[in-house]
Amino acid sequence: MIVGGLLAVGSAAGAVVPAPPSQLGLCAACHGKHGKSVVAGVPNLAGQRYAYLINAMHQYRDGRRNVAVMRAALGPLRVSELKALAHWYAAQPLAPSLSGGSH
Ligand code: HEC
Repeated sequence: MIVGGLLAVGSAAGAVVPAPPSQLGLCAACHGKHGKSVVAGVPNLAGQRYAYLINAMHQYRDGRRNVAVMRAALGPLRVSELKALAHWYAAQPLAPSLSGGSH
C-alpha cells in the first residue's frame, strides 16, 4: 500500500489545496483517499452529501447500522474528526466507474 506515504507528503504541503483530514489514512485503505473504493464490497464515498455521510457514521458508531468493520474504524474518532472526514469525502468529485469507459 502506498497510501500512507502519499498522505504524509500531501499534508505537509497544503497551502492551496485543503489538507486531507489527519485520520484519512484510517479510511483510505478501504474507501480510497478520494472516496473511490479500493476494496470490493466497500461503497464509494466521493460526492455523497455531507449530511448523509455524517449520519451514516453516527449510525455505525451507535449500532443502528450493525457493521463490525465500520464500527471499529469509527470507534476511536472524535466527532470533530468524523465531521472533517465527511466534509472531505463530500468535497471529492464523483468517482467514475472502475471500467473507465473506453474499450
Ligand atoms: C476495513 C474496511 C473499511 C474501513 C477501514 C472503513 N470502512 Fe467505511 N465502510 C466499509 C464497508 C464494508 C461499508 C459498507 C457497510 C454497510 O453495508 O453498511 C462502509 C460504509 C461506510 C459509510 C456509509 C456509506 C454509504 O453509502 O452508506 C461511510 C460514511 C463510511 N464507511 C465511512 C468511513 C470512514 C469515515 C472511515 C475511516 C474512519 C471508514 N469508513 C473506514 C468498510 C470500511
